[in-house]
Amino acid sequence: MADPSSLPDVLRFYRDLGFTEIRAPAAVSPSKARKGRSQPAAPEPKLTEPAERIPVWNYRPGTDLFGAGETARQDPAAMLGKIQEDMGECTRCALHEGRSKIVFGSGNAKAKLVFVGEGPGADEDAQGLPFVGRAGQLLTQMINNTAAGEGISIQREDVYICNVVKCRPPGNRAPEPEEMKTCGQFLDRQLDAIRPKAICVLGGTAAKYLLDTRQGITKIRGQWQDWRGIPVMPTYHPSFLLRAYNKEGKRQAWEDLKMVLHYVYD
Ligand code: URA
Repeated sequence: MADPSSLPDVLRFYRDLGFTEIRAPAAVSPSKARKGRSQPAAPEPKLTEPAERIPVWNYRPGTDLFGAGETARQDPAAMLGKIQEDMGECTRCALHEGRSKIVFGSGNAKAKLVFVGEGPGADEDAQGLPFVGRAGQLLTQMINNTAAGEGISIQREDVYICNVVKCRPPGNRAPEPEEMKTCGQFLDRQLDAIRPKAICVLGGTAAKYLLDTRQGITKIRGQWQDWRGIPVMPTYHPSFLLRAYNKEGKRQAWEDLKMVLHYVYD
């Protein structure tokens, strides 16, 4: 890790890498330590059980997850409308208590590429739109500038952008596995409505949900994964890239994005 300057930076760093808990070694009483006895081993880290999902081998494209019938199925915008209607003024988990606006998603319902983040921050919560704060501005620049640099004529408006959870977690904490499981059903339906050519998942927390994996983002970034038959490229979250110590991460995210853009639009 390259020189994070304070404890909050260190904690955010590990959070962006997808760690959900950091355990201190078990305490040793000073008297035991003085007697030179060996310290009790730290407890095994408890890994969170993956959310219950439709197993990939049970899922077939065309499975009716919508109840909206074939007509709506052919119109992704109508399907997204139906999903948003079903979500309503959601109170299915505690995140609704602190929200101002639900952040459902925005962009082209017929997009060939969907970006999936973790959950709204303060700016998104105020505006009801995903990725409009500092991290969002970086994401917009990354999409627009990388596409332009690679001779691909798309802009942010041409893709679709959404999050795993649609309400802002308090204090910008990572959403809990239960919250992602509850809200993620709507993300699953959004992705299945759009059926893009590829998905770019931003950061370890969203990747954990979408890919049902325990592997950290540093391990899986830059390598194609699969979500119900759609190729998924995991990369770093833009808020991680905003940190000053993160030059190598920026270069890697840029490589990942170029790979996705060429796959989708060439
Ligand atoms: N971070 C996210 O993961 N999503 C947003 O919409 C904004 C910031």
